[in-house]
Amino acid sequence: MEAKYLIKHAIKAQKNSHSKYSNFPVGCALLCVDDKIIYGCNIESAVYPSTLCAERVAIYSALSQGIKKFQAIAIVSNTAAKPCGACRQIIYEYLGNIPIYISDSMGKKNTLHYIKDLLPYPFDI
Ligand code: THU
Repeated sequence: MEAKYLIKHAIKAQKNSHSKYSNFPVGCALLCVDDKIIYGCNIESAVYPSTLCAERVAIYSALSQGIKKFQAIAIVSNTAAKPCGACRQIIYEYLGNIPIYISDSMGKKNTLHYIKDLLPYPFDI
């Protein structure tokens, strides 16, 4: 229920992607503790390193609105790709061990992960 619902929103967010350089749109839906959903999509720049991943767009957006507690996150791309290393670190630091639903953009190939599995040896200071 939660998975399908969140993935549907992540598919919507993917449609907002600005990814003309990679042609790899990514969408993300972050379910906050108050049931609010924050969207994220990857936003690319002609200055390639200025690109930001969908996951971090959603997480930084939520944090900047003062939201600190989250229930789950869904990440959608055409290949059901797992989050990059930088996003795994940010998920570890700000979301904790919540369900991470990863899906293709048809909502068909979806899997459930936890950050403990995706990033077993995180960086901590
Ligand atoms: N991308 C994401 O949005 N999330 C990830 O976890 C990995 C990669 C984006 C960045 C870039 O716009 C495109 O996918 C190709 O790397």
